[in-house]
Amino acid sequence: MDKQIYFFDTSLRDGEQSPGCSMNKREKLLLAKQLDKLGVDVIEAGFAAASQGDFESVQEIAREIKNSTVAVLARAIKGDIDRAYEAVKEAKKPRIHTFIATSDIHMKYKLNMKPEEVIKRAEEMVKYAKSLVPEVEFSAEDATRSSTDFLAKIFDRAILAGATIINIPDTVGYVTPDKFYEFIMEIREKSKYLDRVTISVHCHNDLGLAVANTLAAAKAGARQFECTINGIGERAGNAALEELIMIIKTRKDIYDFQTNIVTEEIFKTSQLLSRITGSYIQANKAIVGENAFAHESGIHQHGVLNNRETYEIMTPESIGLKENKMVLGKHSGRHAFRDRIETLGFNLDEEEFNKAFQQFKSLADQKKTIYDSDIEALITRKTNRENNKYKLKRFVISSGNTISSVASVVLDIDGQVVEGLASAGGPIDAAVSAMEKCLGMELSFEDYSLQSITEGTDALGYASVKLKFDGKTYSGRDVSVDVVEASINAYLDAVNKI
Ligand code: KIV
Ligand code: ZN
Repeated sequence: MDKQIYFFDTSLRDGEQSPGCSMNKREKLLLAKQLDKLGVDVIEAGFAAASQGDFESVQEIAREIKNSTVAVLARAIKGDIDRAYEAVKEAKKPRIHTFIATSDIHMKYKLNMKPEEVIKRAEEMVKYAKSLVPEVEFSAEDATRSSTDFLAKIFDRAILAGATIINIPDTVGYVTPDKFYEFIMEIREKSKYLDRVTISVHCHNDLGLAVANTLAAAKAGARQFECTINGIGERAGNAALEELIMIIKTRKDIYDFQTNIVTEEIFKTSQLLSRITGSYIQANKAIVGENAFAHESGIHQHGVLNNRETYEIMTPESIGLKENKMVLGKHSGRHAFRDRIETLGFNLDEEEFNKAFQQFKSLADQKKTIYDSDIEALITRKTNRENNKYKLKRFVISSGNTISSVASVVLDIDGQVVEGLASAGGPIDAAVSAMEKCLGMELSFEDYSLQSITEGTDALGYASVKLKFDGKTYSGRDVSVDVVEASINAYLDAVNKI
């Protein structure tokens, strides 16, 4: 059997659907370019019919991505497929990924369709998609709660209609590894044509089994893994790409597969995603958590110093974790800065470069040493605020341990200057209350966090805010040496998204 595993990353689609993980167009493109560098075979760029913003993001990614296939999701509905095609048609390697639910419960209560109607619709829509693009993937939503007889039937019809990738999603994260293996083997036995195409799996992590289930599926012949960076995705998320690839790499004795993933790009991709969505990675998260390669206990440290393999099954270097190098300072010029950002893998146009350089210079005035991660934070920071409705003009805060904090925040709201004054227990609280007065609306705070990007008391502070409005969560972020400024701008970033 073919030993090649194809990695299909859906961070920009399934991942982006999860609460607080929404990204704007610029952020999506930045992540897509990094996924291309990571070597993923397929980038699922979005669900074009969901909104104009989603459509434009897919279109831009389709135009820009050089190596990976760009896939776009569409329900098995003609209008969705037309929209998907329009969005993806300029990609070097376009793919339409169409799906319909196949479990009794979904067909009856969600689709309100008879099984035969579902098969007919799938067949027609795959055929239609195939008339538009050379590569069509078909997914049976809620497959793991569907009958294998029905799946074999619908897959055969989709294959005859032109699908070359058949995806078996565990939509609700219900299956277990042994059962999934048997389930896929059973469908393969019942289907006439499944062995002629690529079998794909898409596992959700509701029971914490997404990675284990994906690997069990590989044993049953699946060769496309649908996954996300840091395991983001609906509810408990999807199978984490970094875990799947490092299992394959570390346990080559068990999983004798080939992949196109450049593992040295894992850490950077994980950090980029975390920064642009503002969703933190738990410290003990496998592979990319802060503690994943930290050896705290004396016995472990002693062992590792003598021979790393005593406690290390993979090296930090293999995921691209390097020492945080001091790179530039106050006297570094444009040339050195350009050279460094190119080494870090950023491809900026002249305007973006000029903005980043200006920011670097002003940071160098405030901070003695500038590290790679400072530069990455500056570049992934949202720099273009000119078109925002709500902008910070200035703020003053007085604070102390024996007095309440008092904040004056002046905002530019659509060209009008508005000042808010408030006092509260702490400076951030006071600043937020002052902004609420300017905005004239009350927003519920879901989450706020502040992290330093590098070490030292002059480190850049990274602020991330999640606000709830009208039942939806909006995230905002910013970095600055001044943590109050970063917090105010992160708050406004979320408000502008609302
Ligand atoms: O979880 C799921 O079933 C999906 C499909 C659209 C592939 O995300
Ligand atoms: Zn999913």
